[in-house]
Amino acid sequence: MSALRTLRRLPSTLVNRIAAGEVVERPASAVKELVENALDAGARRIAVTLKEGGRTFISVVDDGVGMSADELRLAVERHCTSKLPDDDLTDIRTLGFRGEALPSIASVSRFTITSRPAGADTAWSLEIDGGAKGEPRPAAHPQGTRVEVRELFFATPARLKFLKEPRTESGHVADAMRRLAMAHPEVAFRLESEERALIDLAAASGSLLSADAARLERLAAIMGREFADNAVAIDVNREGFRLTGFAGLPTLNRPTGQHQYLFVNGRPVRDKLLAGAVRGAYQDFLARDRHPMVALFLEAPTEMVDVNVHPAKTEVRFRDAGIVRGMIVGALRTALSAAGHRASTTVSDAALGAFRPHTGFATPLPMGRSYGNGASGYSSVPRGLAEAAMQFMAPLDGLSARVEQQSANIAPGNYPLGVARAQLHETYIVAQTDQGVVIVDQHAAHERLVHERLKTQLEAEGVKRQALLLPEVVEIGEDGARRLTQRAAELADMGLVLEPFGLGAVVVRETPAVLGEVDIQGLVRDLADELSEMGDHLSLKEKVEEVCGTLACHTSVRAGRRLTVEEMNALLRQMEATPHSGQCNHGRPTYVELKLADIERLFGRR
Ligand SMILES: Nc1ncnc2c1ncn2[C@@H]1O[C@H](COP(=O)(O)OP(=O)(O)OP(=O)(O)O)[C@@H](O)[C@H]1O
Ligand SMILES: [Mg+2]
Repeated sequence: MSALRTLRRLPSTLVNRIAAGEVVERPASAVKELVENALDAGARRIAVTLKEGGRTFISVVDDGVGMSADELRLAVERHCTSKLPDDDLTDIRTLGFRGEALPSIASVSRFTITSRPAGADTAWSLEIDGGAKGEPRPAAHPQGTRVEVRELFFATPARLKFLKEPRTESGHVADAMRRLAMAHPEVAFRLESEERALIDLAAASGSLLSADAARLERLAAIMGREFADNAVAIDVNREGFRLTGFAGLPTLNRPTGQHQYLFVNGRPVRDKLLAGAVRGAYQDFLARDRHPMVALFLEAPTEMVDVNVHPAKTEVRFRDAGIVRGMIVGALRTALSAAGHRASTTVSDAALGAFRPHTGFATPLPMGRSYGNGASGYSSVPRGLAEAAMQFMAPLDGLSARVEQQSANIAPGNYPLGVARAQLHETYIVAQTDQGVVIVDQHAAHERLVHERLKTQLEAEGVKRQALLLPEVVEIGEDGARRLTQRAAELADMGLVLEPFGLGAVVVRETPAVLGEVDIQGLVRDLADELSEMGDHLSLKEKVEEVCGTLACHTSVRAGRRLTVEEMNALLRQMEATPHSGQCNHGRPTYVELKLADIERLFGRR
């Protein structure tokens, strides 16, 4: 009984702090709410300034419609909003609708809001200190609104303790702002932290650009020029829904899914359904551990989507998820195949299982050469293998004949991985062993060898570097450039020497010698992604494995390079001498072996 004192209504400041606990998790969430308010107010220019990652100071200035003194007084009250004119929660066309962001932020900080509506001859300013509200006072300010938040969370010390380093917090702010900026190319965005510009995006030049071109311009500024150059436009309508945006070609893939941006009715959302649909659409084009880059904008009839499901409004619920999923998958697949680009498919273990049928083929293999005509039509034979088999049956070309001759001198019995007999599709080395046939994925194998060599060099004397004749500039955006330059010393130990190069770019001067000629653009982008996934606080040394893996992944022996017989045999010998050479850094096998017994079973000889 003693625990239950008097039942009472909580004071409003406490109510607001409780709400703040959900809505304002960190500086980035406060900035997100304030920038959304500015967008809802029709701003064309939004400037955000941070000190100490937003902990001691945040200001958000816009040139939107502004507020009168009376409106100011109301705006900071809980449950006061101008955005639900018809009291209709099923018809939300603004980013805000709850009327709780301002009072929540003001209850946990020292808060000042200054505003001037169009046509008014003065501005008004109102202060709130940890929830204690003052009176509006005349102030000087042009049309629009300025919100200043000082000492965020001073009133809730527990929350204050959870803030990360300023650099991490300003990174989150930049991320939240970029997402909003992607959906609003017509608005200029600027973010300054400790006097440095982290974001500086000009508004798309009005009528000069079509909406599509303006959007692509903005996406290029945020996701990189490379995305804009390698993306296909999406535009489909279905049952009142419209999906627009851009989808990166499968060849433009990344090691994480962090470059997938999804918007519903102009609102950036993180949605499992949408992310799953994107994965589904690309799954035939991409290896499992690679992710596409996309920016998709879904416009849904307001009554078909519930935006009131998450305190930070970053999730939505669809009345009919099936339509949305089907629409995304369909639109992406159509656009990708129309683009005519196919990525190589990885032969999965399951497919190999099908190649070694202990129970016999469901469809009998047709006889002789006719096999080549419709190979892909036979569902029990994986397409890649069927094509490889076709090559086996085709007359030997010059190269294969040479292989035959030159390797005849080496006895397969001496080597576990045998003697190279042919290279197929400029990707696979086929070797004959004592007991059967080995098929090596040359790129995966080389990647593994390089990985091991990098690790050994690193443990011994540091990785040998090779200077580039022409230093290469890589545009990777502010965040990526910052992450890489912060790690420049450690990266140099690993053989990669780079420096900052203007806003959002780095210049690479030396690369690890063991990589040979390397796709520097791809390497640097992947590294930047990897570093951001790891978080800033981890020491790079602790993550050497992964970084070596990423470096190794960009070795010069890509699938698709023709190898000489000597090179093939050298690769096989190195593999035999290298630990863990049976699988590449991503856990895929580097080679498979078919024993003669398996082959005989395949042909019904056993
Ligand atoms: N930058 C601004 N310019 C003009 N009016 C604003 C601005 N910021 C807030 N307002 C006014 O103050 C009101 C309250 O803002 P607040 O963010 O607290 O709630 P909301 O945006 O209506 O809903 P939500 O809590 O979902 O954000 C808004 O409805 C709007 O009328
Ligand atoms: Mg709001």
